[in-house]
Amino acid sequence: MGALKGAGIKVIHKCTSVRHALKAEKIGCDAASVDGFECGGHPGEDDIPNMILLPRAAEELKIPFVASGGMGNGQQLVAALALGADGINMGTRFIATQDAPVHQNVKDAIVNASEVRYKINYAFFN
Ligand SMILES: Cc1cc2nc3c(=O)[nH]c(=O)nc-3n(C[C@H](O)[C@H](O)[C@H](O)COP(=O)(O)O)c2cc1C
Repeated sequence: MGALKGAGIKVIHKCTSVRHALKAEKIGCDAASVDGFECGGHPGEDDIPNMILLPRAAEELKIPFVASGGMGNGQQLVAALALGADGINMGTRFIATQDAPVHQNVKDAIVNASEVRYKINYAFFN
């Protein structure tokens, strides 16, 4: 941390729980990315969704934080701000952009996906 700060680098720590974000604050991080269970990468081990995690983080943190996990449009930005975040972090959504060096099939799968994480063949159960 000292080397980063000495080089003038701002440190934003990704945290999937309030206690981890408080630790990041304590060791001198400038901001936190608070990631709910919805996030596309490593979701942590507490499985707390943003509807609960973000207002809890807002209650506890003094450093600014961005909301992460499932953020992809302006509605979600507004909701995140209402829940106490200072902004949002978008990950998965950027995979489907022209600039992303990702196979077109992956981009198509993201664009064509519904809110269901894994598509279930419901006919199988009927
Ligand atoms: C391609 C990709 C790679 C990622 N790699 C990591 C990683 O190595 N470690 C990690 O903690 N999070 C990783 N993440 C998660 C992001 O840091 C961020 O928390 C997440 O993408 C935000 O949620 P969203 O994808 O729903 O927008 C990755 C996300 C993406 C899309």
